[in-house]
Amino acid sequence: MNLYKTIEAMLNADKPHISMHVPGHKNNTIGCLSMFDARFDMTETDGLDDLHEPDGVLKNINMNLSLKYPGYTAQMMVNGTTNGVLSAVFAMKSMTDRFIVVDDVHKSVYHALKLSEVYYIEASSADLSDFETGPGDTFIVTYPTYTGDVMDIDKFISFAHEHGARVITDEAHGAHFDIAPGFPVSSMTYGSDITIQSYHKMLPALTMASVIFTKSVSVHREVMKYINWFETSSPSYLVMLSIESAHEFYKTYHAECFFAKRTKLIEALRRENIIVSEKADPAKFMISHPGFSPYEFAKILTDQHHIHHEMVTDDGILWCLPLFHKGDRYPFDTLLKRIGEIELEQDQSAYKGRNTGSTPALTEIGKLLGRVCCRSIVPYPPGVPLVHEGETITREHIKRITHDMYNHVRIEGIRHNIEYYKNEES
Ligand SMILES: Cc1ncc(COP(=O)(O)O)c(C=O)c1O
Repeated sequence: MNLYKTIEAMLNADKPHISMHVPGHKNNTIGCLSMFDARFDMTETDGLDDLHEPDGVLKNINMNLSLKYPGYTAQMMVNGTTNGVLSAVFAMKSMTDRFIVVDDVHKSVYHALKLSEVYYIEASSADLSDFETGPGDTFIVTYPTYTGDVMDIDKFISFAHEHGARVITDEAHGAHFDIAPGFPVSSMTYGSDITIQSYHKMLPALTMASVIFTKSVSVHREVMKYINWFETSSPSYLVMLSIESAHEFYKTYHAECFFAKRTKLIEALRRENIIVSEKADPAKFMISHPGFSPYEFAKILTDQHHIHHEMVTDDGILWCLPLFHKGDRYPFDTLLKRIGEIELEQDQSAYKGRNTGSTPALTEIGKLLGRVCCRSIVPYPPGVPLVHEGETITREHIKRITHDMYNHVRIEGIRHNIEYYKNEES
């Protein structure tokens, strides 16, 4: 029971783990997942419906989810937004001549485009005013970004629709949008054709809980066909129960407690000279400290204070805040106490400039220069590909890979490329 022991130790150590990362239930301290346990892990037995052709209790949940944005049809998914992105691209394929990938997107978008063998190009949202588009186009856009930034989605969708194009919105990080005044609005407010939300990221639902929303009933039917292809044929009832529970949470949420605790938290951080960069999404912010690199500072917070982040980049440490609510069990006072105990002078010698970890020898990475990438190289998180399969690996790529690995950013695909070319040499 190694995994059990590892997680148990993390949660029950002398200084228990404080989550500033997904999933949104934050170790079951937000929302009401305790209502159900392993006994509720059922299958499509009589009375429990069929997720791929719902006609009973699961259809009712979908109908309730659809009420979130009237005019849309919702479908629960148990394989995450990844499953929704794959299904959306395949569903749109027959009505699309060209897919347009806008700005950075998650690797699942590229996987969907490659698998479906469609034609696609990449574009920057900054250049859209000069962009020629028309009824044969389908845009794929990420809104919000991983770090909680938002583009002018109203303008973007209007632009696409005025030209007869369609929009698929990857709203993986925005299932909590519109939950209360002060939070950004969903792309569905502006008529996105398909929007996919990961319920598990920011709402209190189990990992892999997602929902896909479609505006047109005929597109919904196509989406259902591909969900049936890509999704497990044994959907988890625990995950579905968690979507139902997260939706109830969403509908009845009052944000006063959230905003009050958020303000207290920011004040506590700033008292310790920690820089807090707020985002459009109030449930996310980046923190940094002038005396340390973000990677060093993140290590201090995790090693010394057991406060665990979502992601670290050169710009800072990303925290996903809990959706605090009356009666939650999140250890907020402990968090404030630990922030008050931060003594960075003492950490100077232990953490400054001591970031190197188990990176492959730099010469090994260097040998990839000029080679054709044989497995996409993807820093994770955020899961946005850095080098695509088939692309030539450049000096800039090597520089970024080396920098990230030195700072313990996980890079998927790098070992495979190194091994592949090693074998080729021998
Ligand atoms: C922008 C974005 N889209 C899609 C996904 C995939 O979502 P899921 O983990 O629900 O499959 C992620 C995951 O991190 C993401 O960041």
